[in-house]
Amino acid sequence: MGTPFISRLEPTRLDGYDPSKPHDQQAAHLPPVFLDAMAVREAVFVGEQGTPLDCEYDNDDARSCHWTIYASVNMTASAEQRDPSTGAVLRPRRSETRTMPIGTMRIVPFPHPPHPPPGARYVGNVLQDDDDDDDGEGGAAQDHSGVSSLSSTAGAAPPRRRSKTLTSVDEERQASALPYGPDKPTTYHDGKEPYVKLGRVAVVPEFRGHHIAGQMWRAARKWLEDNPAFFNPSVTELGMDQLKVGAVSEIPKWKGLVCCHAQERVVKVYEKWGFRVDEGMGKWFEEGIPHVGMFQRLHIKQGNPKV
Ligand SMILES: CC(C)(COP(=O)(O)OP(=O)(O)OC[C@H]1O[C@@H](n2cnc3c(N)ncnc32)[C@H](O)[C@@H]1OP(=O)(O)O)[C@@H](O)C(=O)NCCC(=O)NCCS
Repeated sequence: MGTPFISRLEPTRLDGYDPSKPHDQQAAHLPPVFLDAMAVREAVFVGEQGTPLDCEYDNDDARSCHWTIYASVNMTASAEQRDPSTGAVLRPRRSETRTMPIGTMRIVPFPHPPHPPPGARYVGNVLQDDDDDDDGEGGAAQDHSGVSSLSSTAGAAPPRRRSKTLTSVDEERQASALPYGPDKPTTYHDGKEPYVKLGRVAVVPEFRGHHIAGQMWRAARKWLEDNPAFFNPSVTELGMDQLKVGAVSEIPKWKGLVCCHAQERVVKVYEKWGFRVDEGMGKWFEEGIPHVGMFQRLHIKQGNPKV
């Protein structure tokens, strides 16, 4: 494997993405870095862990920053051919170097739906009713509980299955700037502070064991540290009225808090990156797989707020 390189995609219109189709059957105008991220997610979450294909893409994808890591791999283009009677080489093996996506992750900006209720069970991204005991054993496993609903606020009805209708990035960013009600306080989150969410962390099986995901996280963390105001809502674009705040000091501003919803079995991976389990968030189940919340605080310079 050659030295991997990482590409970052900022929030972008993904209009025309068809969630029912795989990455290689999507419209040609869609950004290659995103299609490559979807190639990895399909291999890992859909192929390996059993998430339904149409649940893999969601409304958070357009408003997120994505990182995709690539490796140059030497591949056999045509096999060696030998004369069966003499064993002499008729045509030597021909190899070629191909660049392929091997890992991905995304950072979803605030706001987020409320923290999953402890003990909650999600099946196909849908929060099950208390009296519904179908826990959907043996299916998807990634951070899919944060069912994206830009209009959802704390205290509102629990999130349901994601809407498949995309709005434009402008609308999404505008919606993401709107104030959201307080969430329940947990061990590391006071229920009010804006946080970004790390998710869809995946490395294709053939490339695991080389700290590839850690390499991506370091790139994402550095970018967040260098761009702390990136996701903050803009007063100039939206106006105080639309932000529904009375003073500049009330505008939501990111102060370095990062959350992730981790499968319990990979908690140790995230701990190595500095995340800590938020005991107050409890445990919930996605497709029968136990998940916990984790947080870490990045030490960012309080740059100028976006104006
Ligand atoms: C999680 C994942 C992205 C990590 O991939 P990776 O970058 O290849 O990670 P590595 O295997 O190199 O492991 C990095 C470190 O974590 C440790 N680690 C990895 N998996 C672990 C596990 N299940 N339990 C404990 N430690 C683990 C490794 O031992 C290594 O430790 P070290 O730093 O002391 O050497 C990859 O396993 C994956 O794609 N899994 C499937 C998708 C998934 O479950 N994503 C997480 C959703 S919450």
